[in-house]
Amino acid sequence: MVLESVARIVKVQLPAYLKRLPVPESITGFARLTVSEWLRLLPFLGVLALLGYLAVRPFLPKKKQQKDSLINLKIQKENPKVVNEINIEDLCLTKAAYCRCWRSKTFPACDGSHIKHNELTGDNVGPLILKKKEV
Ligand code: FES
Repeated sequence: MVLESVARIVKVQLPAYLKRLPVPESITGFARLTVSEWLRLLPFLGVLALLGYLAVRPFLPKKKQQKDSLINLKIQKENPKVVNEINIEDLCLTKAAYCRCWRSKTFPACDGSHIKHNELTGDNVGPLILKKKEV
């Protein structure tokens, strides 16, 4: 039953549809098509464009994999979770900057590596700055 329908579409309806299409004999003929002829032709051209795209898609350059999909690329990768604990009482400076970009060579302290990271990726990360109130 299903195959009968498919066979009818392929052998009867599709050829009849294609025969009725107002396909011009030359490229310049497209300019002479009427609006209604264009409307009849558009679905067919859309299908052709889709099939053409699907045919060439495997050969198109792949989107560059975002190398930076991991946040932490190299810091303590042997650990299942990187946790840093800093006692507020141990802060000897009035101001301390801690890395949130995971690119610092002095992690967890910020060494300014976020600037290069932001320039390369268009990101906007920056450090967490802890300040002591001066009394
Ligand atoms: Fe990472 Fe500054 S180096 S936030």
